[in-house]
Amino acid sequence: MSGPRLRLSGIRKRFGATTALDGVDLEIRAGEIHALVGENGAGKSTLMKVLSGVHAPDAGTIELDGRPYAPRHPLDARRAGIAMVNQELALAPHLSVVENLVLGAEPHRGPFLRHRESRRIAAEALAQLGRPDIPSTRPPAA
Ligand SMILES: Nc1ncnc2c1ncn2[C@@H]1O[C@H](COP(=O)(O)OP(=O)(O)O)[C@@H](O)[C@H]1O
Ligand SMILES: [Mg+2]
Repeated sequence: MSGPRLRLSGIRKRFGATTALDGVDLEIRAGEIHALVGENGAGKSTLMKVLSGVHAPDAGTIELDGRPYAPRHPLDARRAGIAMVNQELALAPHLSVVENLVLGAEPHRGPFLRHRESRRIAAEALAQLGRPDIPSTRPPAA
């Protein structure tokens, strides 16, 4: 049997006097779906932020497919195939559904945004979710 795709070992993270993560070990194998359960403040979001490159851990290591993985920022993580879908329902209420869906990963050619490609990506995502009816060029409904 091959090793885990993802292995977190001894992950620690402190915010001032608060120890958010105190030596977390977690292994995830291909095809597995995990639920991270814990009370408010247990450190779930912090762990996912470490995994997705938002926070650097104070200690501990992560291996992705057996290789050291230490994303410096979320784009690093995304390039490695790790992305976080945030809990907030509307990330940017003043932007359209399309703009929210491609936020931070806007298709572009040089300095120019490719709006039609953005709309195509959004339409595909909404269709996949069975909600092609959502008006994607308007701000998300509250
Ligand atoms: N950016 C931050 N600055 C200071 N403290 C933080 C920060 N992020 C999280 N914490 C603290 O770390 C602990 C874990 O928080 P969090 O990971 O958000 O828990 P959960 O997602 O399980 O509710 C909490 O005590 C929280 O207040
Ligand atoms: Mg949380």
